[in-house]
Amino acid sequence: MKERIIIYGGSGGVGASTARLLSRQGYSLHLVARSEERLAAISNDLGASYTVGDVTDPTLFDRVATQVEGAVKGLVYAVGNINLGGITRFKQDAFIEDFKINALGGALAVQSAIPAMRACEGTTSVVFFSSVAVQQGFKFHASIGMAKGAVEGLTRSLAAELAPSIRVNAIAPSLTRTPLASKIMSNVNSVKAFADSHPLKRLGEADDISAMAAFLLSEQSTWITGQIIGIDGGRSAISA
Ligand SMILES: NC(=O)c1ccc[n+]([C@@H]2O[C@H](COP(=O)([O-])OP(=O)(O)OC[C@H]3O[C@@H](n4cnc5c(N)ncnc54)[C@H](OP(=O)(O)O)[C@@H]3O)[C@@H](O)[C@H]2O)c1
Repeated sequence: MKERIIIYGGSGGVGASTARLLSRQGYSLHLVARSEERLAAISNDLGASYTVGDVTDPTLFDRVATQVEGAVKGLVYAVGNINLGGITRFKQDAFIEDFKINALGGALAVQSAIPAMRACEGTTSVVFFSSVAVQQGFKFHASIGMAKGAVEGLTRSLAAELAPSIRVNAIAPSLTRTPLASKIMSNVNSVKAFADSHPLKRLGEADDISAMAAFLLSEQSTWITGQIIGIDGGRSAISA
């Protein structure tokens, strides 16, 4: 029987790229997101099952656990948003919404998947998504920087709590061409400036990120847990 992986945000840029790669590697997939149209399109392509729902709705996670049958080998939480703005503009509700979407949803997704992951033979793996904006300070990133900082704390805490049977790691991308980043990339001149701000002189592609997600889910990474891995063209570590 094929091993099963749940991907929250499985219809997004990174989530769909990860789903396609894992499907080619022979995994069975269960995808989660809000738009049924986009979920159904990719699920039909890959023979995946899916749940439609919003991660800010706490009842979603039990629905997913009920719909996914049998043991679960891995969980990817590739849900996120990008809500940039000056600190004086943000209302409390917007901070809380960003926290729920990026961080709390990940914690609840793992909580509901633990019984099915513990039912799996061998080690299992969780992959979260942080951002380069946690290691480096960027203007107008207060809310998303704060929420993604929480993802990094969650990653290390769960890695400690769930070892040795469940490994937990996070990927921290820099700007990557996906629907999430499309607004930021709408101006050709700023795209060039953003690309040049990376030592490797280009922006990320969804496949750059999904390759690491698939590695972290695989048998090649069974001695890796509690890590935050920058896939960022060198931006977090080297000055351009
Ligand atoms: N792209 C970048 O430049 C970049 C940089 C740093 C970090 N990241 C992180 O990388 C991860 C993947 O991002 P991406 O670029 O692939 O984003 P994306 O293309 O916008 O995909 C986001 C996915 O999450 C789903 N989603 C969004 N809000 C949701 C909600 N409230 N409830 C349920 N599902 C929801 C979306 O589907 P629906 O809209 O249908 O719900 C979609 O499937 C995110 O955690 C993001 O923060 C991305």
